[in-house]
Amino acid sequence: MSSDAQIGKFYKEQSIFLTGGTGFLGKILIEKLLRQCWDLKKIYVLVRPKKGKSPEKRFEEFFEYPCFDLIKCKNLSEKVFLISGDCQKPHLGLGVQDVKLLKKETTCVIHAAANVKFDQTLKEASHNVRATRDVLELAKEMQNLKVFVYVSTAFSNCVHSHIEERFYTPPMKSESFLGLVDDVDDNTLQAITSKLLGEYPNTYIYTKCITEDLVRSSLQVPKVIVRPAIVTSTIEEPVLGWVDNLNGVIGILLLAGLGILQSMHAKKNSPALLVPVDYVANCTLAAAWKVHRSGTTTIYNYTGHNKNIITWGRFIEIVKPIGWEVPPEKIVWYLCFKLRENRLWHKICVFFLHTVVAYFVDFVLICVGRATIAVKNYRRLHKAMDLISYFAIRRWSFEQDNVLELWDQMRNEDKKMFNFNMEDTDWVKYNRDSILGLRMYLLKETLDTIPKGKKKLKILCVVHYAVVALFWYSLYKFLMFVASSLSERAKSLDYLEGRD
Ligand SMILES: NC(=O)c1ccc[n+]([C@@H]2O[C@H](COP(=O)([O-])OP(=O)(O)OC[C@H]3O[C@@H](n4cnc5c(N)ncnc54)[C@H](OP(=O)(O)O)[C@@H]3O)[C@@H](O)[C@H]2O)c1
Repeated sequence: MSSDAQIGKFYKEQSIFLTGGTGFLGKILIEKLLRQCWDLKKIYVLVRPKKGKSPEKRFEEFFEYPCFDLIKCKNLSEKVFLISGDCQKPHLGLGVQDVKLLKKETTCVIHAAANVKFDQTLKEASHNVRATRDVLELAKEMQNLKVFVYVSTAFSNCVHSHIEERFYTPPMKSESFLGLVDDVDDNTLQAITSKLLGEYPNTYIYTKCITEDLVRSSLQVPKVIVRPAIVTSTIEEPVLGWVDNLNGVIGILLLAGLGILQSMHAKKNSPALLVPVDYVANCTLAAAWKVHRSGTTTIYNYTGHNKNIITWGRFIEIVKPIGWEVPPEKIVWYLCFKLRENRLWHKICVFFLHTVVAYFVDFVLICVGRATIAVKNYRRLHKAMDLISYFAIRRWSFEQDNVLELWDQMRNEDKKMFNFNMEDTDWVKYNRDSILGLRMYLLKETLDTIPKGKKKLKILCVVHYAVVALFWYSLYKFLMFVASSLSERAKSLDYLEGRD
Protein backbone atom coordinates (compact mmCIF):
# COMPACT_ATOMS: atom_id res chain seq x y z
CA MET A 1 0.00 0.00 0.00
CA SER A 2 1.39 3.43 -0.97
CA SER A 3 2.23 5.88 1.82
CA ASP A 4 -0.27 8.29 0.29
CA ALA A 5 -3.18 5.95 0.98
CA GLN A 6 -5.17 6.75 4.12
CA ILE A 7 -8.32 4.66 3.81
CA GLY A 8 -6.48 1.34 3.51
CA LYS A 9 -4.49 2.27 6.63
CA PHE A 10 -7.69 2.95 8.54
CA TYR A 11 -8.92 -0.58 7.85
CA LYS A 12 -5.64 -2.15 8.99
CA GLU A 13 -6.32 -4.35 12.02
CA GLN A 14 -10.05 -3.52 11.98
CA SER A 15 -12.60 -6.19 12.80
CA ILE A 16 -15.77 -5.54 10.89
CA PHE A 17 -19.22 -6.88 11.72
CA LEU A 18 -21.22 -6.83 8.49
CA THR A 19 -24.93 -7.50 8.12
CA GLY A 20 -26.33 -7.88 4.60
CA GLY A 21 -22.98 -9.31 3.48
CA THR A 22 -24.71 -11.96 1.37
CA GLY A 23 -26.61 -9.32 -0.62
CA PHE A 24 -25.77 -7.41 -3.80
CA LEU A 25 -23.97 -4.54 -2.07
CA GLY A 26 -22.65 -6.73 0.76
CA LYS A 27 -20.73 -9.02 -1.60
CA ILE A 28 -19.01 -6.07 -3.25
CA LEU A 29 -18.14 -4.60 0.16
CA ILE A 30 -16.55 -7.87 1.24
CA GLU A 31 -14.69 -8.32 -2.05
CA LYS A 32 -13.33 -4.79 -1.95
CA LEU A 33 -12.19 -5.07 1.65
CA LEU A 34 -10.45 -8.37 1.00
CA ARG A 35 -8.81 -7.26 -2.24
CA GLN A 36 -7.71 -3.82 -1.21
CA CYS A 37 -7.50 -3.93 2.60
CA TRP A 38 -6.06 -7.39 3.24
CA ASP A 39 -4.38 -6.01 6.36
CA LEU A 40 -7.72 -5.83 8.13
CA LYS A 41 -8.09 -8.25 11.00
CA LYS A 42 -11.39 -9.99 10.40
CA ILE A 43 -14.78 -9.63 8.76
CA TYR A 44 -17.68 -11.23 10.62
CA VAL A 45 -20.56 -11.83 8.23
CA LEU A 46 -24.10 -12.39 9.51
CA VAL A 47 -25.73 -15.17 7.51
CA ARG A 48 -29.24 -16.57 7.97
CA PRO A 49 -30.64 -19.90 6.77
CA LYS A 50 -32.36 -19.52 3.39
CA LYS A 51 -34.17 -21.74 0.88
CA GLY A 52 -33.43 -24.86 2.88
CA LYS A 53 -29.72 -24.08 3.25
CA SER A 54 -28.11 -23.61 6.63
CA PRO A 55 -25.91 -20.54 7.25
CA GLU A 56 -22.91 -22.89 7.29
CA LYS A 57 -23.75 -24.32 3.87
CA ARG A 58 -24.42 -20.84 2.42
CA PHE A 59 -21.14 -19.58 3.83
CA GLU A 60 -19.26 -22.55 2.42
CA GLU A 61 -20.59 -21.76 -1.07
CA PHE A 62 -20.34 -18.00 -0.68
CA PHE A 63 -17.06 -17.36 -2.48
CA GLU A 64 -18.16 -19.25 -5.58
CA TYR A 65 -19.82 -16.12 -6.99
CA PRO A 66 -17.91 -14.70 -9.99
CA CYS A 67 -17.49 -11.37 -8.19
CA PHE A 68 -14.92 -13.12 -5.95
CA ASP A 69 -12.79 -14.48 -8.81
CA LEU A 70 -9.96 -12.01 -8.22
CA ILE A 71 -9.53 -12.96 -4.56
CA LYS A 72 -10.08 -16.73 -4.75
CA CYS A 73 -6.33 -17.28 -4.63
CA LYS A 74 -6.16 -15.78 -1.12
CA ASN A 75 -6.62 -17.74 2.05
CA LEU A 76 -10.03 -16.25 2.74
CA SER A 77 -10.77 -18.38 5.81
CA GLU A 78 -8.05 -16.38 7.58
CA LYS A 79 -10.09 -13.23 7.31
CA VAL A 80 -13.80 -13.95 6.86
CA PHE A 81 -15.92 -15.60 9.56
CA LEU A 82 -19.49 -16.76 9.70
CA ILE A 83 -21.90 -15.43 12.30
CA SER A 84 -25.14 -17.43 12.16
CA GLY A 85 -28.19 -15.31 12.79
CA ASP A 86 -31.40 -13.89 11.44
CA CYS A 87 -32.54 -10.28 11.59
CA GLN A 88 -36.13 -11.46 12.06
CA LYS A 89 -35.30 -13.23 15.31
CA PRO A 90 -35.00 -11.58 18.73
CA HIS A 91 -31.48 -10.21 19.26
CA LEU A 92 -30.66 -11.20 15.67
CA GLY A 93 -30.82 -14.89 16.62
CA LEU A 94 -27.15 -14.79 17.65
CA GLY A 95 -25.50 -17.52 19.72
CA VAL A 96 -24.03 -16.64 23.13
CA GLN A 97 -20.45 -17.24 22.00
CA ASP A 98 -20.89 -15.09 18.91
CA VAL A 99 -22.31 -12.24 20.98
CA LYS A 100 -19.29 -12.41 23.28
CA LEU A 101 -16.92 -12.49 20.31
CA LEU A 102 -18.56 -9.58 18.53
CA LYS A 103 -18.62 -7.44 21.68
CA LYS A 104 -14.95 -8.05 22.26
CA GLU A 105 -13.60 -7.91 18.72
CA THR A 106 -15.67 -5.57 16.58
CA THR A 107 -14.21 -2.16 15.79
CA CYS A 108 -16.51 -1.26 12.90
CA VAL A 109 -20.14 -2.18 12.19
CA ILE A 110 -21.61 -1.99 8.70
CA HIS A 111 -25.33 -2.64 8.90
CA ALA A 112 -26.64 -3.20 5.36
CA ALA A 113 -29.18 -6.00 5.90
CA ALA A 114 -32.73 -5.13 4.96
CA ASN A 115 -35.75 -6.61 3.31
CA VAL A 116 -35.76 -4.41 0.20
CA LYS A 117 -39.09 -5.55 -1.27
CA PHE A 118 -41.47 -2.68 -1.93
CA ASP A 119 -44.61 -4.79 -1.49
CA GLN A 120 -43.98 -6.35 1.91
CA THR A 121 -46.54 -5.91 4.67
CA LEU A 122 -45.86 -3.45 7.45
CA LYS A 123 -45.26 -6.35 9.80
CA GLU A 124 -42.61 -7.83 7.50
CA ALA A 125 -41.00 -4.44 6.93
CA SER A 126 -40.94 -3.74 10.67
CA HIS A 127 -37.99 -6.15 10.89
CA ASN A 128 -35.90 -3.50 9.16
CA VAL A 129 -36.46 -1.31 12.24
CA ARG A 130 -36.29 -4.07 14.84
CA ALA A 131 -33.09 -5.57 13.44
CA THR A 132 -31.41 -2.16 13.42
CA ARG A 133 -32.47 -1.65 17.03
CA ASP A 134 -30.90 -5.01 17.90
CA VAL A 135 -27.69 -4.26 15.98
CA LEU A 136 -27.45 -0.90 17.79
CA GLU A 137 -28.06 -2.59 21.17
CA LEU A 138 -25.25 -5.01 20.43
CA ALA A 139 -23.00 -2.20 19.18
CA LYS A 140 -23.49 -0.32 22.48
CA GLU A 141 -21.62 -3.13 24.19
CA MET A 142 -18.77 -3.37 21.71
CA GLN A 143 -15.82 -2.21 23.74
CA ASN A 144 -13.61 -1.21 20.82
CA LEU A 145 -16.17 0.15 18.40
CA LYS A 146 -14.88 3.10 16.36
CA VAL A 147 -17.58 3.69 13.79
CA PHE A 148 -21.10 2.52 12.99
CA VAL A 149 -22.27 2.53 9.38
CA TYR A 150 -25.91 2.28 8.41
CA VAL A 151 -26.88 1.78 4.78
CA SER A 152 -30.15 3.63 4.22
CA THR A 153 -31.66 4.80 0.92
CA ALA A 154 -31.75 8.13 -0.90
CA PHE A 155 -35.53 7.86 -0.89
CA SER A 156 -35.99 7.42 2.87
CA ASN A 157 -37.29 11.01 2.99
CA CYS A 158 -38.91 11.08 -0.45
CA VAL A 159 -41.94 12.91 0.93
CA HIS A 160 -39.71 16.01 0.60
CA SER A 161 -38.74 17.20 -2.88
CA HIS A 162 -35.37 18.62 -1.86
CA ILE A 163 -33.36 16.24 0.29
CA GLU A 164 -30.54 17.53 2.41
CA GLU A 165 -27.80 15.50 4.07
CA ARG A 166 -29.41 15.74 7.48
CA PHE A 167 -31.84 13.81 9.67
CA TYR A 168 -35.54 14.39 9.11
CA THR A 169 -38.46 13.95 11.48
CA PRO A 170 -39.79 10.41 10.98
CA PRO A 171 -43.49 9.64 10.57
CA MET A 172 -43.32 7.78 13.88
CA LYS A 173 -40.72 7.09 16.57
CA SER A 174 -39.23 3.61 16.37
CA GLU A 175 -40.48 2.55 19.83
CA SER A 176 -44.07 3.61 19.05
CA PHE A 177 -43.85 1.92 15.66
CA LEU A 178 -42.55 -1.38 17.03
CA GLY A 179 -45.07 -1.21 19.90
CA LEU A 180 -47.90 -0.73 17.41
CA VAL A 181 -46.78 -3.62 15.21
CA ASP A 182 -46.54 -5.88 18.28
CA ASP A 183 -49.88 -4.86 19.77
CA VAL A 184 -52.10 -4.78 16.72
CA ASP A 185 -53.22 -7.99 15.00
CA ASP A 186 -52.22 -8.61 11.38
CA ASN A 187 -55.64 -7.89 9.85
CA THR A 188 -56.03 -4.57 11.62
CA LEU A 189 -52.46 -3.66 10.72
CA GLN A 190 -53.17 -4.41 7.06
CA ALA A 191 -56.32 -2.33 7.24
CA ILE A 192 -54.56 0.73 8.66
CA THR A 193 -51.33 0.47 6.63
CA SER A 194 -52.20 2.97 3.93
CA LYS A 195 -53.39 5.49 6.53
CA LEU A 196 -50.16 5.05 8.48
CA LEU A 197 -48.01 5.36 5.34
CA GLY A 198 -49.69 8.62 4.39
CA GLU A 199 -47.44 10.18 1.74
CA TYR A 200 -44.80 7.44 2.02
CA PRO A 201 -44.97 5.29 -1.11
CA ASN A 202 -44.37 1.88 0.48
CA THR A 203 -43.59 0.04 3.69
CA TYR A 204 -39.88 -0.35 2.82
CA ILE A 205 -39.31 3.41 2.53
CA TYR A 206 -41.45 4.03 5.63
CA THR A 207 -39.35 1.71 7.78
CA LYS A 208 -36.08 3.05 6.32
CA CYS A 209 -37.12 6.55 7.39
CA ILE A 210 -38.00 5.44 10.93
CA THR A 211 -34.72 3.53 11.12
CA GLU A 212 -32.61 6.58 10.25
CA ASP A 213 -34.12 8.37 13.24
CA LEU A 214 -33.41 5.33 15.41
CA VAL A 215 -29.75 5.41 14.35
CA ARG A 216 -29.62 9.16 15.05
CA SER A 217 -30.81 8.75 18.61
CA SER A 218 -28.72 5.71 19.58
CA LEU A 219 -25.08 5.08 20.31
CA GLN A 220 -22.33 7.52 21.16
CA VAL A 221 -19.73 6.52 18.55
CA PRO A 222 -19.50 8.43 15.25
CA LYS A 223 -22.04 7.18 12.76
CA VAL A 224 -22.26 7.15 8.99
CA ILE A 225 -25.57 7.05 7.17
CA VAL A 226 -25.07 6.30 3.49
CA ARG A 227 -28.09 6.94 1.31
CA PRO A 228 -27.55 5.33 -2.09
CA ALA A 229 -30.08 5.93 -4.85
CA ILE A 230 -30.88 3.09 -7.30
CA VAL A 231 -28.03 0.59 -7.00
CA THR A 232 -27.05 -0.98 -10.33
CA SER A 233 -24.27 -3.19 -11.73
CA THR A 234 -20.54 -2.58 -11.23
CA ILE A 235 -18.88 0.12 -13.27
CA GLU A 236 -15.24 -0.79 -12.66
CA GLU A 237 -14.48 -3.63 -10.32
CA PRO A 238 -14.06 -6.44 -9.57
CA VAL A 239 -15.46 -7.12 -13.05
CA LEU A 240 -17.42 -4.91 -15.42
CA GLY A 241 -21.19 -5.12 -15.26
CA TRP A 242 -21.41 -7.62 -12.41
CA VAL A 243 -24.90 -7.96 -10.98
CA ASP A 244 -26.71 -10.58 -8.92
CA ASN A 245 -30.23 -9.45 -8.25
CA LEU A 246 -33.34 -8.46 -10.12
CA ASN A 247 -34.42 -5.54 -7.99
CA GLY A 248 -35.67 -2.30 -9.52
CA VAL A 249 -34.00 -1.02 -12.67
CA ILE A 250 -31.97 -4.21 -13.14
CA GLY A 251 -35.19 -6.23 -13.37
CA ILE A 252 -36.69 -3.67 -15.77
CA LEU A 253 -33.64 -3.84 -18.07
CA LEU A 254 -33.64 -7.60 -18.04
CA LEU A 255 -37.36 -8.07 -18.69
CA ALA A 256 -37.39 -5.35 -21.36
CA GLY A 257 -34.35 -6.95 -23.01
CA LEU A 258 -36.15 -10.30 -23.11
CA GLY A 259 -39.23 -8.74 -24.70
CA ILE A 260 -41.36 -9.51 -21.64
CA LEU A 261 -41.84 -5.92 -20.45
CA GLN A 262 -43.15 -3.49 -23.06
CA SER A 263 -44.27 -0.41 -21.17
CA MET A 264 -43.30 1.62 -18.15
CA HIS A 265 -45.03 4.64 -16.72
CA ALA A 266 -42.29 7.25 -16.34
CA LYS A 267 -41.54 10.90 -17.08
CA LYS A 268 -38.81 11.22 -19.67
CA ASN A 269 -37.33 14.25 -17.91
CA SER A 270 -37.27 12.72 -14.44
CA PRO A 271 -33.80 11.77 -13.26
CA ALA A 272 -32.92 8.08 -13.17
CA LEU A 273 -30.65 8.12 -10.15
CA LEU A 274 -28.50 5.10 -10.98
CA VAL A 275 -25.42 4.41 -8.88
CA PRO A 276 -23.03 1.52 -9.58
CA VAL A 277 -22.75 -0.92 -6.71
CA ASP A 278 -18.93 -0.77 -6.55
CA TYR A 279 -19.05 3.03 -6.24
CA VAL A 280 -21.62 2.70 -3.44
CA ALA A 281 -19.27 0.29 -1.64
CA ASN A 282 -16.29 2.63 -2.13
CA CYS A 283 -18.24 5.64 -0.89
CA THR A 284 -19.40 3.66 2.16
CA LEU A 285 -15.88 2.53 3.07
CA ALA A 286 -14.42 5.98 2.50
CA ALA A 287 -17.17 7.58 4.58
CA ALA A 288 -16.38 5.30 7.54
CA TRP A 289 -12.73 6.40 7.37
CA LYS A 290 -13.70 10.09 7.22
CA VAL A 291 -16.25 9.94 10.05
CA HIS A 292 -13.82 8.09 12.27
CA ARG A 293 -11.27 10.84 11.61
CA SER A 294 -13.69 13.72 12.18
CA GLY A 295 -15.63 12.07 15.00
CA THR A 296 -18.87 13.57 13.64
CA THR A 297 -21.93 11.62 12.60
CA THR A 298 -22.50 12.37 8.91
CA ILE A 299 -25.08 11.58 6.25
CA TYR A 300 -24.07 10.96 2.64
CA ASN A 301 -26.63 11.29 -0.17
CA TYR A 302 -24.97 9.07 -2.73
CA THR A 303 -27.11 9.78 -5.77
CA GLY A 304 -24.50 10.16 -8.51
CA HIS A 305 -23.15 13.60 -9.42
CA ASN A 306 -25.58 16.49 -9.79
CA LYS A 307 -23.64 17.72 -12.85
CA ASN A 308 -23.97 14.40 -14.65
CA ILE A 309 -27.51 13.18 -14.06
CA ILE A 310 -29.16 10.93 -16.63
CA THR A 311 -32.91 11.20 -17.21
CA TRP A 312 -35.22 8.22 -17.78
CA GLY A 313 -35.71 9.35 -21.36
CA ARG A 314 -31.97 9.44 -22.03
CA PHE A 315 -31.49 6.12 -20.26
CA ILE A 316 -33.98 4.41 -22.58
CA GLU A 317 -32.46 6.16 -25.62
CA ILE A 318 -29.11 4.65 -24.66
CA VAL A 319 -30.19 1.11 -23.78
CA LYS A 320 -32.60 0.51 -26.68
CA PRO A 321 -30.02 0.25 -29.48
CA ILE A 322 -27.77 -1.82 -27.19
CA GLY A 323 -30.65 -4.25 -26.68
CA TRP A 324 -30.79 -4.64 -30.47
CA GLU A 325 -27.03 -5.05 -30.75
CA VAL A 326 -26.65 -7.82 -28.17
CA PRO A 327 -30.01 -9.61 -27.80
CA PRO A 328 -29.91 -12.73 -25.64
CA GLU A 329 -30.75 -16.14 -27.03
CA LYS A 330 -33.43 -16.42 -24.34
CA ILE A 331 -35.37 -13.47 -25.84
CA VAL A 332 -39.10 -14.31 -26.01
CA TRP A 333 -40.62 -11.42 -27.96
CA TYR A 334 -39.77 -8.50 -30.20
CA LEU A 335 -38.25 -5.48 -28.39
CA CYS A 336 -40.85 -2.71 -28.29
CA PHE A 337 -40.38 -1.39 -24.78
CA LYS A 338 -41.39 2.27 -24.35
CA LEU A 339 -41.67 4.81 -21.57
CA ARG A 340 -45.15 6.23 -21.44
CA GLU A 341 -45.79 9.48 -19.65
CA ASN A 342 -49.55 9.25 -19.70
CA ARG A 343 -50.80 6.73 -17.15
CA LEU A 344 -54.01 5.88 -19.00
CA TRP A 345 -52.17 5.28 -22.28
CA HIS A 346 -49.61 3.16 -20.40
CA LYS A 347 -52.44 1.08 -18.89
CA ILE A 348 -54.06 0.58 -22.33
CA CYS A 349 -50.72 -0.54 -23.81
CA VAL A 350 -50.12 -2.85 -20.85
CA PHE A 351 -53.54 -4.39 -21.45
CA PHE A 352 -52.82 -5.21 -25.10
CA LEU A 353 -49.09 -5.89 -24.90
CA HIS A 354 -49.02 -7.81 -21.61
CA THR A 355 -52.43 -8.94 -20.38
CA VAL A 356 -53.87 -10.15 -23.67
CA VAL A 357 -50.59 -11.89 -24.48
CA ALA A 358 -50.52 -13.50 -21.00
CA TYR A 359 -54.04 -14.91 -21.42
CA PHE A 360 -53.08 -16.24 -24.84
CA VAL A 361 -49.92 -17.91 -23.47
CA ASP A 362 -51.87 -19.49 -20.59
CA PHE A 363 -54.53 -20.69 -23.04
CA VAL A 364 -51.82 -22.42 -25.10
CA LEU A 365 -50.33 -23.90 -21.92
CA ILE A 366 -53.71 -25.28 -20.87
CA CYS A 367 -54.16 -26.79 -24.37
CA VAL A 368 -50.86 -28.65 -24.09
CA GLY A 369 -51.64 -29.78 -20.53
CA ARG A 370 -49.10 -27.56 -18.75
CA ALA A 371 -49.56 -25.35 -15.68
CA THR A 372 -50.41 -21.70 -16.36
CA ILE A 373 -47.86 -19.06 -15.39
CA ALA A 374 -48.20 -15.98 -17.57
CA VAL A 375 -51.25 -14.21 -16.11
CA LYS A 376 -50.09 -14.75 -12.54
CA ASN A 377 -46.56 -13.52 -13.26
CA TYR A 378 -47.70 -10.50 -15.27
CA ARG A 379 -50.02 -9.53 -12.40
CA ARG A 380 -47.03 -9.58 -10.04
CA LEU A 381 -44.94 -7.65 -12.54
CA HIS A 382 -47.60 -4.95 -12.92
CA LYS A 383 -47.82 -4.55 -9.17
CA ALA A 384 -44.04 -4.19 -8.92
CA MET A 385 -43.91 -1.77 -11.87
CA ASP A 386 -46.58 0.45 -10.29
CA LEU A 387 -44.46 0.67 -7.14
CA ILE A 388 -41.30 1.43 -9.15
CA SER A 389 -43.06 4.03 -11.31
CA TYR A 390 -43.55 6.19 -8.23
CA PHE A 391 -39.80 6.92 -8.44
CA ALA A 392 -39.80 7.42 -12.22
CA ILE A 393 -42.54 10.03 -12.48
CA ARG A 394 -41.23 12.34 -9.80
CA ARG A 395 -38.21 14.56 -9.40
CA TRP A 396 -36.10 15.12 -6.36
CA SER A 397 -33.06 17.27 -5.84
CA PHE A 398 -30.40 15.96 -3.52
CA GLU A 399 -27.80 17.91 -1.63
CA GLN A 400 -24.38 16.26 -2.05
CA ASP A 401 -22.06 18.54 -0.08
CA ASN A 402 -20.86 15.80 2.27
CA VAL A 403 -20.16 13.39 -0.58
CA LEU A 404 -18.25 16.08 -2.50
CA GLU A 405 -16.32 17.09 0.60
CA LEU A 406 -15.42 13.47 1.29
CA TRP A 407 -14.09 13.15 -2.27
CA ASP A 408 -12.11 16.41 -1.99
CA GLN A 409 -10.48 15.26 1.23
CA MET A 410 -9.33 11.94 -0.16
CA ARG A 411 -5.74 11.65 -1.30
CA ASN A 412 -4.96 10.73 -4.90
CA GLU A 413 -4.06 7.14 -4.07
CA ASP A 414 -7.35 6.72 -2.19
CA LYS A 415 -9.26 8.27 -5.08
CA LYS A 416 -7.81 5.60 -7.35
CA MET A 417 -8.53 2.78 -4.94
CA PHE A 418 -11.94 3.95 -3.70
CA ASN A 419 -13.32 5.81 -6.68
CA PHE A 420 -16.95 6.93 -6.46
CA ASN A 421 -16.82 10.16 -8.45
CA MET A 422 -19.57 10.11 -11.09
CA GLU A 423 -18.91 13.57 -12.52
CA ASP A 424 -17.46 12.08 -15.72
CA THR A 425 -19.35 8.79 -15.86
CA ASP A 426 -19.82 7.76 -19.49
CA TRP A 427 -23.45 6.59 -19.39
CA VAL A 428 -23.32 4.93 -22.80
CA LYS A 429 -20.33 2.79 -21.88
CA TYR A 430 -21.68 2.06 -18.42
CA ASN A 431 -25.08 0.93 -19.71
CA ARG A 432 -23.46 -1.17 -22.43
CA ASP A 433 -21.33 -2.94 -19.82
CA SER A 434 -24.38 -3.34 -17.58
CA ILE A 435 -26.39 -5.02 -20.35
CA LEU A 436 -23.50 -7.34 -21.17
CA GLY A 437 -23.27 -8.08 -17.44
CA LEU A 438 -26.98 -8.90 -17.28
CA ARG A 439 -26.56 -11.37 -20.16
CA MET A 440 -23.54 -12.92 -18.56
CA TYR A 441 -24.36 -13.05 -14.85
CA LEU A 442 -28.16 -13.27 -14.77
CA LEU A 443 -28.99 -15.03 -18.05
CA LYS A 444 -25.74 -17.03 -18.04
CA GLU A 445 -25.20 -16.24 -21.73
CA THR A 446 -21.73 -15.67 -23.12
CA LEU A 447 -21.02 -13.36 -26.06
CA ASP A 448 -21.17 -16.22 -28.59
CA THR A 449 -24.97 -16.38 -28.20
CA ILE A 450 -25.37 -12.90 -29.74
CA PRO A 451 -25.72 -14.16 -33.37
CA LYS A 452 -28.42 -16.63 -32.28
CA GLY A 453 -30.13 -13.85 -30.30
CA LYS A 454 -30.08 -11.58 -33.36
CA LYS A 455 -31.52 -14.28 -35.59
CA LYS A 456 -34.30 -14.94 -33.09
CA LEU A 457 -35.02 -11.22 -32.77
CA LYS A 458 -35.41 -10.92 -36.54
CA ILE A 459 -37.94 -13.77 -36.58
CA LEU A 460 -39.77 -12.27 -33.60
CA CYS A 461 -39.85 -8.94 -35.43
CA VAL A 462 -41.68 -10.54 -38.37
CA VAL A 463 -44.05 -12.42 -36.03
CA HIS A 464 -44.71 -9.25 -34.02
CA TYR A 465 -45.60 -7.15 -37.07
CA ALA A 466 -47.70 -10.00 -38.47
CA VAL A 467 -49.67 -10.12 -35.21
CA VAL A 468 -50.00 -6.32 -35.17
CA ALA A 469 -51.18 -6.31 -38.81
CA LEU A 470 -53.65 -9.10 -38.03
CA PHE A 471 -54.92 -7.13 -35.03
CA TRP A 472 -55.47 -3.91 -37.04
CA TYR A 473 -56.99 -5.85 -39.92
CA SER A 474 -59.41 -7.63 -37.53
CA LEU A 475 -60.25 -4.33 -35.86
CA TYR A 476 -60.84 -2.73 -39.28
CA LYS A 477 -63.08 -5.65 -40.32
CA PHE A 478 -64.98 -5.47 -37.04
CA LEU A 479 -65.53 -1.72 -37.34
CA MET A 480 -66.64 -2.13 -40.97
CA PHE A 481 -69.08 -4.81 -39.88
CA VAL A 482 -70.47 -2.57 -37.11
CA ALA A 483 -70.70 0.38 -39.49
CA SER A 484 -72.50 -1.62 -42.19
CA SER A 485 -74.90 -3.12 -39.61
CA LEU A 486 -75.70 0.36 -38.32
CA SER A 487 -76.25 1.70 -41.81
CA GLU A 488 -78.47 -1.30 -42.66
CA ARG A 489 -80.45 -0.56 -39.52
CA ALA A 490 -80.73 3.12 -40.39
CA LYS A 491 -81.88 2.21 -43.91
CA SER A 492 -84.55 -0.11 -42.48
CA LEU A 493 -85.74 2.65 -40.13
CA ASP A 494 -85.88 5.14 -43.04
CA TYR A 495 -87.85 2.61 -45.02
CA LEU A 496 -90.29 1.98 -42.15
CA GLU A 497 -90.64 5.72 -41.47
CA GLY A 498 -91.26 6.34 -45.21
CA ARG A 499 -93.91 3.64 -45.26
CA ASP A 500 -95.68 5.24 -42.31
N1 LIG B 1 -30.49 -2.15 -4.21
C1 LIG B 1 -30.80 -0.89 -4.19
O1 LIG B 1 -31.19 -0.30 -5.22
C2 LIG B 1 -30.67 -0.09 -2.91
C3 LIG B 1 -30.90 1.29 -2.96
C4 LIG B 1 -30.77 2.04 -1.81
C5 LIG B 1 -30.44 1.43 -0.63
N2 LIG B 1 -30.24 0.09 -0.58
C6 LIG B 1 -29.90 -0.51 0.71
O2 LIG B 1 -28.71 -1.22 0.58
C7 LIG B 1 -28.71 -2.32 1.48
C8 LIG B 1 -28.31 -3.57 0.74
O3 LIG B 1 -29.26 -3.79 -0.28
P1 LIG B 1 -28.98 -4.79 -1.49
O4 LIG B 1 -29.26 -4.06 -2.74
O5 LIG B 1 -27.67 -5.43 -1.31
O6 LIG B 1 -30.17 -5.80 -1.26
P2 LIG B 1 -30.15 -7.41 -1.26
O7 LIG B 1 -29.30 -7.92 -2.34
O8 LIG B 1 -31.57 -7.83 -1.22
O9 LIG B 1 -29.46 -7.77 0.12
C9 LIG B 1 -30.12 -7.65 1.33
C10 LIG B 1 -29.25 -8.25 2.38
O10 LIG B 1 -29.94 -8.20 3.64
C11 LIG B 1 -29.95 -9.53 4.17
N3 LIG B 1 -31.14 -9.79 4.96
C12 LIG B 1 -32.44 -9.52 4.65
N4 LIG B 1 -33.23 -10.00 5.60
C13 LIG B 1 -32.43 -10.61 6.52
C14 LIG B 1 -32.65 -11.31 7.72
N5 LIG B 1 -33.89 -11.50 8.18
N6 LIG B 1 -31.60 -11.78 8.41
C15 LIG B 1 -30.33 -11.61 7.94
N7 LIG B 1 -30.05 -10.97 6.81
C16 LIG B 1 -31.09 -10.47 6.10
C17 LIG B 1 -29.98 -10.43 2.96
O11 LIG B 1 -29.60 -11.73 3.35
P3 LIG B 1 -30.01 -13.02 2.47
O12 LIG B 1 -28.90 -13.22 1.50
O13 LIG B 1 -30.10 -14.08 3.49
O14 LIG B 1 -31.32 -12.72 1.83
C18 LIG B 1 -28.93 -9.73 2.11
O15 LIG B 1 -27.65 -10.03 2.57
C19 LIG B 1 -30.09 -2.38 2.09
O16 LIG B 1 -30.04 -1.83 3.38
C20 LIG B 1 -30.93 -1.52 1.19
O17 LIG B 1 -31.97 -0.90 1.89
C21 LIG B 1 -30.34 -0.69 -1.70
